[in-house]
Order: sequence, then structure tokens, then C-alpha cells
Amino acid sequence: MEPVRFAMVGGGEGAFIGPVHRTAAAIAGNCRLVAGAFSSDAERARRSGEALGLAADRSYASWQALIEGEARKDAAERAEFIAIVTPNHLHAPIAIAALEAGLPVLTDKPLTDTIAAAEAFAAAAAQTGGLVGVTHTYAAYPMVRQARALVAGGALGAIRRVAVRYTQGWLARAEDAVGKQAEWRVDPARSGLAGAFGDIGTHAFNLVETIAGERMVRLSAELRAAVPGRTLDDDGAAMFHLAGGARGTLVASQVCAGDANGLAISIWCEEAGLHWEQENPNVLRVARRAGPEEIWTAGADRPYLAPQGSRVIRTPAGHPEGYLEAFANIYQDFALAVRGDAPADPCYASLSAGMRAMRFIAAAHASSEDDGRWIDLEDTRA
Ligand SMILES: NC(=O)c1ccc[n+]([C@@H]2O[C@H](COP(=O)([O-])OP(=O)(O)OC[C@H]3O[C@@H](n4cnc5c(N)ncnc54)[C@H](O)[C@@H]3O)[C@@H](O)[C@H]2O)c1
Repeated sequence: MEPVRFAMVGGGEGAFIGPVHRTAAAIAGNCRLVAGAFSSDAERARRSGEALGLAADRSYASWQALIEGEARKDAAERAEFIAIVTPNHLHAPIAIAALEAGLPVLTDKPLTDTIAAAEAFAAAAAQTGGLVGVTHTYAAYPMVRQARALVAGGALGAIRRVAVRYTQGWLARAEDAVGKQAEWRVDPARSGLAGAFGDIGTHAFNLVETIAGERMVRLSAELRAAVPGRTLDDDGAAMFHLAGGARGTLVASQVCAGDANGLAISIWCEEAGLHWEQENPNVLRVARRAGPEEIWTAGADRPYLAPQGSRVIRTPAGHPEGYLEAFANIYQDFALAVRGDAPADPCYASLSAGMRAMRFIAAAHASSEDDGRWIDLEDTRA
């Protein structure tokens, strides 16, 4: 197929995730960046577009100009979807304008900054019928998809307990909260209701629901700013219930000195526990109650892997894949969906999965404000 043309908002000079998205699109091979509004600063946006080799008339000074400008192009030329990689508070306004202009939206997580903005985003998607994907990256790793398939297969029995933690240390001290990536993350006006729980807790939440194939229904949480002077949480923990009755714990912290990207999950079913760590992503350990321990590893030449995982493995066994490839799986599937050919169980998170992550943030925040009161996720309202 001809590559699917896409536009990007954010991701200019010095940005973190925009370049990751572009690399992912290149690995996916079925999409091509044709336009962008890469910065809130018009000159920086222009320089970023030029550095990426975009035609001057496709490198826009603002996201509003991008959406208008692309809508005016011939159907054979205009962008077919928009990728949003700005700070959280801009996801909803950009997405709503894009959907109203008929552009499908692939937005980075969390879906938005507040529940009200998320509901407005969801309403625009419902009204326009536009396609929305969210980049909850960790669900797109082959061994996570293998774990999901093993749980869904039923042979391990019902889930009893989940333990997930996402620990980073890059905001361990007050003076760490400077620089492009940090300064908006500690600002409620741009980050939203939560700090670490929104930034990385939502990834942990999505990973739980992805592997378990069940919804988180209730939680009790304690969020805090461990570093004095911060408004938003930089550290916190929640206890939760899954719909099937399993119990779980979730830790999300950005003040765990020395940790880099310590996302790890264990899911214990009646017959075995499944264990996966993001920093060693090609390995899934399955420890059985009444049998030997199994070490599952990724590899394109392993026919015994579940199809939903093996279809997104690119290299033979022993050739590690990781973060960039997981992102590429998301781009690959979203581009297929834009052309009306979405695979079953796509690698991008749906709008409703993104919305549920927002309800998780809101419930954790409300619970923490009320001394850890148990809160139903569905009770979170704008
Ligand atoms: N999925 C993941 O693994 C992952 C990882 C990191 C960040 N993220 C998410 O990606 C988003 C961006 O995070 P980041 O770390 O790249 O931040 P960043 O600060 O590095 O980049 C943000 C970019 O948005 C641009 N921007 C800001 N306002 C703009 C506007 N009005 N118009 C156009 N561009 C504008 C900035 O100039 C910058 O280029 C956040 O929502 C974050 O939660 C996701």
C-alpha cells in the first residue's frame, strides 16, 4: 500500500517523544510524515520542519494553521491523520479541531489533562465518528501481548493478584524539575490533575487492563509530593480491584533515586504467575504452581508464540526489540486502521481505554484527597 500520510503537532527541536514517533513511523514503513506544527514558537516550528526536510508550505506556524491548511489540500495530498505529541493540556483542543476537520487522531497519553477535557474529546469523536488511537506504548510489546494471550487462553485460571510498579528517579530532587520535559510535567495547568500518576501511572494502569483483559473497577490511593514545594504528586501507590475479583497494587513514582524506567508487572493466576519487566522486554517469565518455570522469549521464528504477539515481531530470536519497535507497532496498526484495515486486537489503545486511564487518574486523586477512600472508577465525573 502507499504510505499513509500524517501530520504532527509538537515534537520540535529538543522534544522527547516527537522524534520517537517519527522513528517509529519510519520503522513501521507504512506511514510518511508530510506536515507539522512542531512548536508553539513559530520560528522554532519552521526550523524543525526544515530540518525534517518538509516543504515550507507543509511546516505550519501553529496547529490551527496546520488543520486549516491540510483541509484545503487535495484529498490525494493532504495528511490522513494527525499525531499529537504536545504537553497534555493541548491534546483535547487539537484533537477536537482535527476530528471536526475529518482528520483521525493518534494522540500520546494521557488522553488529556482533565476529565472534562477528556469527555469533550470523546464527544467530538462520537459526533464525527472519527478514528482515535492513544499511544499507551507498553501494551504494544510482543511479550506483553503474549502474556495477554496466555491469560485470555484460560489455562492459567482466574487472576488472583496483580502487582505493577513504575518507578523512575529523574525527578528525585527539587532542582531536577527544570528543562523542557520536566517543567510542564510539574505544572498542573499543563500536566493536569496528577503528576507521576498521570505521566507514568496511566501506563501501569493500561498495562494491567491489557494483560488482564479485565477492567479495574475500584481503588484506594495515596498520592503525595515527596519533594517539598511541588503541587502535583511525584510518588504514590494504589490498591485496586479488577472486575473479576482479583486484588492488586500499583506504585508510580518519579523520585526513586537511581531508577531509570522501572516498569514491571506480575500477574498471579490460579495456576501460575506471569512476570514482565520493561527494561528486559523480550522475556516473559511464567512460574507454574505444579510444573517447571518457563522463560518465553521473543523471536520472529517462533511459531509457538501467540499470533497477536508474533505478528509484530520483526527480528529473529536473539535480536532484541524494544521501545522504538513497540511504538512502530502502534503506528503500523493505526495506519492500517486509517485505511479501513485495522487488525484484530490492534497495538494502539482505543479512545475508551484512554478514557479509562483518565478515570483512573481522577479516582486516584479523589481517593487520595479523601484519606484513601475506596472509589469506583465509573463514578469519576467532570
Ligand atoms: N508514550 C510514551 O511512552 C510517552 C513518553 C514521553 C512522553 N509522552 C507524552 O508525550 C507528550 C509530550 O511529551 P514530551 O516528553 O515529548 O514533551 P516535550 O516537552 O519534550 O515536547 C513537547 C513538544 O510540544 C511542543 N508544543 C508545545 N506547545 C505547542 C503548540 N501550541 N503547538 C505546537 N507544538 C507545541 C513543544 O515545543 C515540544 O516540541 C506528553 O503528553 C507526554 O505525556 C508519552
